[in-house]
Amino acid sequence: MINIGLLGFGTVGQGVYRILQDKGEDLKALLGLEIEVKSILVRDLYKERVTEVPLSKLTLNPDDIVSDDSIDIIVEVTGDVDLSYRIISKAFERGKHVVTANKAVVSAYFEELSHLAEENRVSFLYEASVAGGIPVLKPLKDQIRLNRISRIQGILNGTCNYILTRMTDEGLAYDEVLKEAQKLGYAEADPSSDVEGIDTMRKLRIISTIALGASITEDDIICDGIDKVSDLDIELLMDRGMKVKLIAEARKVEKGYQAIVQPKALPVASYFAGVNGAYNGISMDGNYSGTLGFQGPGAGMYPTANAIITDVIDCILETQKKDSPLRGRKLENRNEDIAATYYLRISGYDRSMDNIKEHLQEVLHDEDGEFAFISKEVKLYQLLHMLAEFEDKPFSLIAIEQ
Ligand code: NAP
Ligand code: HSE
Repeated sequence: MINIGLLGFGTVGQGVYRILQDKGEDLKALLGLEIEVKSILVRDLYKERVTEVPLSKLTLNPDDIVSDDSIDIIVEVTGDVDLSYRIISKAFERGKHVVTANKAVVSAYFEELSHLAEENRVSFLYEASVAGGIPVLKPLKDQIRLNRISRIQGILNGTCNYILTRMTDEGLAYDEVLKEAQKLGYAEADPSSDVEGIDTMRKLRIISTIALGASITEDDIICDGIDKVSDLDIELLMDRGMKVKLIAEARKVEKGYQAIVQPKALPVASYFAGVNGAYNGISMDGNYSGTLGFQGPGAGMYPTANAIITDVIDCILETQKKDSPLRGRKLENRNEDIAATYYLRISGYDRSMDNIKEHLQEVLHDEDGEFAFISKEVKLYQLLHMLAEFEDKPFSLIAIEQ
């Protein structure tokens, strides 16, 4: 018998519990052992939940779970950073494997937790933390054994992609679609981390650190979200044959790397423009593998729970190595060199803002103080510096993929 301690019983936790109930016999046949969810941590014992569970399994005390010697694997799906950091560390020290979907805690303590797991010879698996249901970390860990990855990029947030897709295809309003994404269980407890790009940035932090072999922390990544993208921006860019997507990208450049999360306008026929709804997509460029593409559900109860249980099976069958996948390469951050052609819309534009002129390539819209144009190729920092001079003027900045 393998006992699981489940931390969290929300969208993902309930998905894990349900699949384990449904597939109990098949898993027993596969593993030769039964899997039992022994205890479940929640904040409120009496909250109404769509999944029935015996009250005796629920606890408010995380130490009941981590101190229970009969529990072999902790599945952490709370979203809480401080609590999960404490419990995961303690679990490793007590010889328990940990599977988590919580990118916030993996991102914040990636190196420390990876090394602690390795030291204690236990598994630390977090496939569901990046791109929800898509198996991408396991193939990435396989590829870096042979390949040098020069670039990894992706659509890594289901909520943002769902919002942008419905705004583009159906002309729906941003707020309306965000509420639907919340109802469908895609969004974080605080959805500002989705729409401001923070969730995507944490996921880029995790995959880029593995892919490029150097620690790329949250502070090393330029981060923007979709909260300033309007239906006018989407329409003007669609008229030019481009779709707006929130793209995360880390690339090796001469003497270092660049890492950025930003809205990008992509040709409608491109790979990422074809990734729609709550789906995510990732591509990685290896020197031998060439470009590998992955696409699938980036959020949601069952796809995420599927990724978690696949990790649980790997813990039991020991089909993933317990060594940390992190390598200690030293790479210099070269974000100051990032340059592109940009779409820029400024609200409250007036003719006195003439320092725009040196960057202007083509005006797309000039009406009622809304001024939108395509820039010449320019360094991002230079453009942001110019925008800072306009202080209170709201703007929307979208990089254009050539
Ligand atoms: P959720 O629906 O908000 O559920 C969170 C669960 O954790 C709830 O059961 C809550 O208890 C419990 N919890 C939170 N903080 C706690 C604390 N301090 N002490 C005890 N219990 C606590 O969240 P979710 O959507 O399932 O997401 C869980 C994690 O998976 C997050 O890290 C998220 O980023 C990640 N993730 C989510 C998805 C997705 O599609 N939703 C996909 C991939 C990864 P109560 O029920 O009592 O409130
Ligand atoms: N809120 C996240 C998203 C959940 O929308 O992608 C999956 O990590």
